[in-house]
Amino acid sequence: MPHDISWDEYNAAQAGRPPRASLGAALDAVAGRADRPVEEVPGSGRVAVDVGCGEGVEVTALLEQGWTVHALDGEGAALDRLVARTPTGARQRLHVRRVDYGELDALPDADLVHASYSLPYCGPAHFDRVWAAVRAALRPGAVLACQLFGPHDDAYGDPEMTFHTADEARELLNGLEVVSWTEEDADGSAYTGPKHWHVFHVVARRPHA
Ligand SMILES: C[S@@+](CC[C@H](N)C(=O)[O-])C[C@H]1O[C@@H](n2cnc3c(N)ncnc32)[C@H](O)[C@@H]1O
Repeated sequence: MPHDISWDEYNAAQAGRPPRASLGAALDAVAGRADRPVEEVPGSGRVAVDVGCGEGVEVTALLEQGWTVHALDGEGAALDRLVARTPTGARQRLHVRRVDYGELDALPDADLVHASYSLPYCGPAHFDRVWAAVRAALRPGAVLACQLFGPHDDAYGDPEMTFHTADEARELLNGLEVVSWTEEDADGSAYTGPKHWHVFHVVARRPHA
């Protein structure tokens, strides 16, 4: 993300889009079946954490399915909009926290940790601590869905971001069962215009035992 637009502008523009495919993949993994419609995945009583949730499109989808959701982001305005649009009946299951990656060292225990296009924007000085918090939040059997960025990405070299080679990304997943791993290394588009993406789309599960 070039620094000539604000996260608030980016996040506000996400309102109304469908939930990201990473959420569907994560819920398929939670349900244990790849062919089960997302609407049929029971969320009642389950806890999800969305790290870097932005506008909270995926948070809203999880709330609608009965999940309790902890939504974290560094941008307070997006979190305020998320709370404001959440129906009263679901608000008691929504917990928002405005936190910068620089201060994030623990997350609530969860059955699902979702972090779409957010962890690469954690700088190298903080990434290991934030990743450790993500790993520690995973209950036995819990699912993690996230994107990590590789060295071919147009943003590579941004000192405020963290990038991983495929081997390094795989190493981060040591001890987890990799449910799906897709490497995207292609020209595409971003909010700010054309972009070359190098992204590892990951869904992984903490083993039960
Ligand atoms: C590309 S957006 C992704 C948002 C959302 N998960 C999505 O899929 O649309 C990256 C998010 O990371 C958040 N972010 C960027 N730097 C941050 C930081 N240092 N601490 C906390 N959040 C940060 C931004 O506010 C933004 O919401």
